[in-house]
Amino acid sequence: MFKPLLSLQRVGKEFPARGTGKGLSYKAVNEVSLDICPGETVGLVGESGCGKSTLGYLVLNLLDLTSGEILFEGQNFANLNKDQQRALKSQIQIVFQDPQSSLNPRFKIEQIVEEPLRLNGWRDKQKRKERVRQLLDKVGLGEEYLARFPHELSGGQRQRVAIARAISLNPKLIVLDEPTSALDVSVQAQILNLLKKLQRDLNLAFLFISHNLAVVRHLSNKVAVMYFGRIIELADTNELFNNPLHPYTKVLLQSIPNINPEKPLLVEVEGEIPTLHKSPLGCSFHSRCSIANDLCREAGPELQFIKEGHWVSCNAMSRGRKE
Ligand SMILES: Nc1ncnc2c1ncn2[C@@H]1O[C@H](COP(=O)(O)OP(=O)(O)O)[C@@H](O)[C@H]1O
Ligand SMILES: [Mg+2]
Repeated sequence: MFKPLLSLQRVGKEFPARGTGKGLSYKAVNEVSLDICPGETVGLVGESGCGKSTLGYLVLNLLDLTSGEILFEGQNFANLNKDQQRALKSQIQIVFQDPQSSLNPRFKIEQIVEEPLRLNGWRDKQKRKERVRQLLDKVGLGEEYLARFPHELSGGQRQRVAIARAISLNPKLIVLDEPTSALDVSVQAQILNLLKKLQRDLNLAFLFISHNLAVVRHLSNKVAVMYFGRIIELADTNELFNNPLHPYTKVLLQSIPNINPEKPLLVEVEGEIPTLHKSPLGCSFHSRCSIANDLCREAGPELQFIKEGHWVSCNAMSRGRKE
C-alpha cells in the first residue's frame, strides 16, 4: 500500500509584510501539497526567495504553520505531547548550505557530533564516544578529526561533519537545503555521492532543495518546481526533464548549461516579477508568461493531475485537457 513518510496537505506560511500597512501578510508558502515516501528523494527547485527554505523549516517544525497540515507517518506534530514531539523531531534532520555557519565554531568536532546524542537520551559517555567515531567513519572522516575545530577543516569536511550530526539519531528524513552550493564542483560530487550511499545504507528520505537542476536530476526520484510560494509542477524526474509542461519549468530547463556546471543554473525569466507589494491576482506567473491570457490574469490555477506521476498548475494545461 502507498504510505507516505511525510505528507504536506495544503500547507501555508504567512509572514507579516512590513511597510504595506497593518495586518497585511505575505504568503511565503502557499497551499503546498506534497508526499515523500520512505527512502525517496524529492527535489525542490525554484528561484531564490520562492519559499524553499521556509518549506524546509516547516517540515522540521522550526516554524509554525499558518494553514494546512503536515503529517509524519500519519501523525500531526501539533497533536502530540512534548515527549512525542521530541521523538518525532529526532526523525527529521537538516543539512544547511553553509557548514561554516551551521557548526558551532567553539565546539570540537567530537562535541558537535555528540551533542544531539547527549540531548536525546544517550547518557552513557563511552557509548556516545563510540557512536561519534562510528558516525565520522560513515562520512569518511578518521579519528584525527575528533579534536579539531570547524575552522581547521575544509568546506567539504565541514559538510561531512554536518551530515554525521544529521544522521546521528537515525532519522528517516533529512532536509538538504542547498547542501553543496557553497562547495567547489569536485567536492560537490563527493558529498552528493556520500549522501547517495548513506541514503541506500540507512533508507533515508531526502527533501533535496537546490537551484542546481543538474544536481537535482541526478539525485531525485521526483521533482517539485516552486514559484512564488506555490508548487507549480510536480513530476517524476525523467518525466519532468523530458516533458516539462509549465511555461516556467520550460524556461528553467532551458537554462541548464552543458559546459559550465558550477554556474548558477537559473536564468532570468523575462517580465515583471511579483513582489510583496504587488502580489498578482490570478496565476502568479502570468506577468512573466508567454502564453498567458485573460483567464490567467483572473484565476489562479490549482495543481492538476495530468497523468500518473505528473501534476501541473497552469490554466493552459487544464484547457488543453478538456478540449
Ligand atoms: N522569518 C521571516 N520573516 C519574514 N519573511 C521571511 C522570513 N523567512 C523568509 N521570509 C521571506 O519569505 C520568502 C521566501 O524565503 P525563503 O524560504 O528563504 O526562499 P528560498 O529558500 O527559496 O530562497 C522570501 O521573500 C523571504 O524574504
Ligand atoms: Mg533558501
